[in-house]
Amino acid sequence: MNAQTYKIRAARRALDFVRPGMRLGLGTGSTARSFVDLLAERVAAGFEVLCVPTSQATRSQAQQLHIPLTTLDETPALDLTIDGADEIAPDLSLVKGGGGALLCEKIVAAASARMIVIAEESKLVATLGRFPLPIEVVAFGLAATRRAIEAAALGAGCRGHVQLRQSEGGQAFVTDCGHLILDAAFDRIEQPAVLAAALAAVPGVVEHGLFVGLARVAVLAGPAGVRIVERS
Ligand code: A5P
Repeated sequence: MNAQTYKIRAARRALDFVRPGMRLGLGTGSTARSFVDLLAERVAAGFEVLCVPTSQATRSQAQQLHIPLTTLDETPALDLTIDGADEIAPDLSLVKGGGGALLCEKIVAAASARMIVIAEESKLVATLGRFPLPIEVVAFGLAATRRAIEAAALGAGCRGHVQLRQSEGGQAFVTDCGHLILDAAFDRIEQPAVLAAALAAVPGVVEHGLFVGLARVAVLAGPAGVRIVERS
């Protein structure tokens, strides 16, 4: 069984949480993509939902599949967001943003009454940080912002290389919202909430990929099957 199969299984199980008429946030990444594919099959069969995508990529996928879409301006309160993650801690704190969509993902998750994270089991880790933490920043003052991030992280007990994300052509990666991403290889993030607050206070930081207190349920798929983890 390969990773993609597990992603599809997690996505399929998450469909059980979707009720007719829900206003739904649609995540970004390969697992969320599988969820959107499966949701589209239901929509084609007459299931009614109204969705807000978290990236241009998800918007274009959902449009092609004829999923009814709205925006947070038209529909500012959502019932549920279903999204993937790069790492999941036992308390359902997350690292997100491997695909660069963390800003819209967090805005949509925060506008939702509930967030469910879907992933293959290997994303569950004892301590966050092995996956470099994406931090979205404005281009102005990049070097100064990077220094300030390193200092803020040190104050939160995290040290590591902070690197500008490049796209395949060797240019700086630019997010859907026109910002840059710094990937911070901290290795261990012992106190995600403390680091989250420290990063949020740095001028030039637009958002970071730590999602603390947002996900309530994780749907994890692996060799032993699909299991549901709930935040207490
Ligand atoms: C997108 O910016 C990310 O937050 C994704 O949700 C995350 O990288 C998980 O992606 P996969 O489902 O492709 O692993």
